[in-house]
Amino acid sequence: MKKYFVIGNPINHSLSPKLHNYWIKANNINSIYEKKELKHDQLKNIILDIKRKDIEGINVTVPFKQKIIEHIDELSPEARATQSVNTIYLNENKVVGHNTDIIGFTSSLKEISFDLLNKKVFILGAGGVVPSIVYSLNKMRPSQIIISNRTKEKAIDLKKLFTNLIIVDWGKIPEFDIIINATSVGLNNQDNIGLDFSGVKDKLFYDVIYSPQETNFLKGAKIHGNKTINGKMMFIYQASAAFKLWHKIQPKIDQKVIELLS
Ligand code: ATR
Repeated sequence: MKKYFVIGNPINHSLSPKLHNYWIKANNINSIYEKKELKHDQLKNIILDIKRKDIEGINVTVPFKQKIIEHIDELSPEARATQSVNTIYLNENKVVGHNTDIIGFTSSLKEISFDLLNKKVFILGAGGVVPSIVYSLNKMRPSQIIISNRTKEKAIDLKKLFTNLIIVDWGKIPEFDIIINATSVGLNNQDNIGLDFSGVKDKLFYDVIYSPQETNFLKGAKIHGNKTINGKMMFIYQASAAFKLWHKIQPKIDQKVIELLS
């Protein structure tokens, strides 16, 4: 039986095993997908497990998407450009790191037919998932990508990877067509980002968080007549791209899959 893992710390909340095992079963594949909480110094060994073919594939989540890179033989162009790896596999005895968060984000916007061309984007946060979001956005040619992070240095660091980013101080709210919450604020139901969007309407509010399904950020946006989307479809699409890479099968995304993660 082939083994797959999602690694991170903490990892308890991860819904990846539920989703992948559902597709594994639906496609009669002889594999299992589990979660593993790792410490930083265990990253090297788990990559050796891939080399030895004890493990077939790995998904990587917070906080290892960047830290794993030093242990990997080859990066896909997307992983290199974002310095972010979420999917690992062996190819001709080389451990390859790829990034399916990008296609996950792109597909989620495509699905709701949101056209980014010449739009103003405002991103909150500069953590692990943001390089993938910016890479995806850049392909869709928005007029501006503005970013704000509580710790400004991290936003400045990101500008090294993506020179077109416009940085604004935390607390300032520029004009935008779409705002993306990529911070971890909202993971707890009572979390509040502490920014006032009460004057903003008819825009798109995107929260990368999918559990809870509706953060206070999205709840407030809805009240003021904005369109909202959570991170669920991004999560499902990134998982489906990893599944396709590993098993060479395009898994079905239907209502049952979507409900699985409710
Ligand atoms: P990491 O920062 O380790 O990559 P992450 O979960 O990917 O972790 O990112 C967390 C993001 O949420 C960061 O942008 C973080 O801002 P800081 O860089 O200032 O830490 C942001 N964040 C977390 N708590 C926040 C809060 N209470 N207010 C504003 N931003 C917050």
